[in-house]
Amino acid sequence: MSKSAAPTAQYRPETRLVHSGTLRSQFGETSEALFLTQGYVYDTAEQCEARFKGEDPGFIYSRYSNPTIAMFERRMIELEGAEAARSAATGMAAVTTAILAPLRAGDHVVASKALFGSCLYVVQDLLPRYGIETTLVDGLDLDQWQRAMRKNTKTFFLESPTNPTLDVLDIPAIAEIAHSGGARLVVDNVFATPVLQSPLALGADVVVYSATKHIDGQGRCLGGVILSSEAFIAEHIHNFMRQTGPSISPFNAWVLLKGLETLGIRVRAQTETAGRIADALASHPKISRLIYPGRADHPQASLVKKQMRGGSTLVGFEVKGGKAAAFRVLNALKLAKISNNLGDAKSLVTHPATTTHQRLKPEDRAALGISEGFIRFSTGLEHADDLIEDLAAALEKA
Ligand SMILES: Cc1ncc(COP(=O)(O)O)c(C=O)c1O
Repeated sequence: MSKSAAPTAQYRPETRLVHSGTLRSQFGETSEALFLTQGYVYDTAEQCEARFKGEDPGFIYSRYSNPTIAMFERRMIELEGAEAARSAATGMAAVTTAILAPLRAGDHVVASKALFGSCLYVVQDLLPRYGIETTLVDGLDLDQWQRAMRKNTKTFFLESPTNPTLDVLDIPAIAEIAHSGGARLVVDNVFATPVLQSPLALGADVVVYSATKHIDGQGRCLGGVILSSEAFIAEHIHNFMRQTGPSISPFNAWVLLKGLETLGIRVRAQTETAGRIADALASHPKISRLIYPGRADHPQASLVKKQMRGGSTLVGFEVKGGKAAAFRVLNALKLAKISNNLGDAKSLVTHPATTTHQRLKPEDRAALGISEGFIRFSTGLEHADDLIEDLAAALEKA
């Protein structure tokens, strides 16, 4: 097997998605091999010793790394323009590691309030148990980020677009505030995907993904990945992950690696369809609010143009009549399936107030714009007209 993949940095993202990171074995396989192995054997005891000393560049144990996992990480690195990456068993394992591993008691974190429920749990409930304080801010308000900064602030954390209300946060401006106070910015880029937004190029220090979403894109397996500088991974992540073991399975890494090959065409097709759905719903009489980052009426439309390469595969809308009306719409949809998941080839609809964001207090949900009538629509690969017809028929029931 070739020990390192051929560089592909000179190619465009579409080409990198197909070729980056490939390690071919002696059999010359076309498709990347799945190395479903826990460990490795050594020719000699001397080689084994050298491997452990870091003097022989092979694999040691699949909790540390594995050829299939290495291919997935290298493809992500080249796609994202990062220096290094570590994959994890789930998106939450990646988020928790990226936030927790570099911190110690006495440190302070500032995070946007508009976070996926489990991310909010990590910053709001988990960190304080270990002596790490958190301040939650309205991510859209740059003054709040600035005012929250303290001498001991080490990390800023945000997601953009936000889940589920699709607010778009100013990544370069927030990165500048973080850096001026000596903190790092960690961005959860799940909603944007690497196709539509590159947070590292916008000034972020660390990017995290739930690869479970668009990167797999076909609803099969869980995974996560942390991307950043070589120094951040070496100093904060490498040893933490080796010793605590939130590792991805080689099988899942293989599925995600193959998922990357089609990520670009899937996300672009889903984004185009989402834009058509948003336009079709925008003036619907049963809808009181429609949010789509690709439309001119999005509250941060000019920022979307500056920092994203497209709208989103997700559309948010509020039906008149609250929870009962929203449930009637969900139950009447034939094609789009009720789910708390997103980023799938199949369109999925979510009622955030009773699922992903049900642990928030009602007043906190209201402050975030997650009303009882709010629906999140994750656009799949179906024909746009079929989805629009399905939604139109279901809205009649609202
Ligand atoms: C924005 C965001 N971050 C992180 C996660 C966590 O990912 P996973 O389910 O792979 O742990 C999710 C979804 O579950 C998400 O929507």
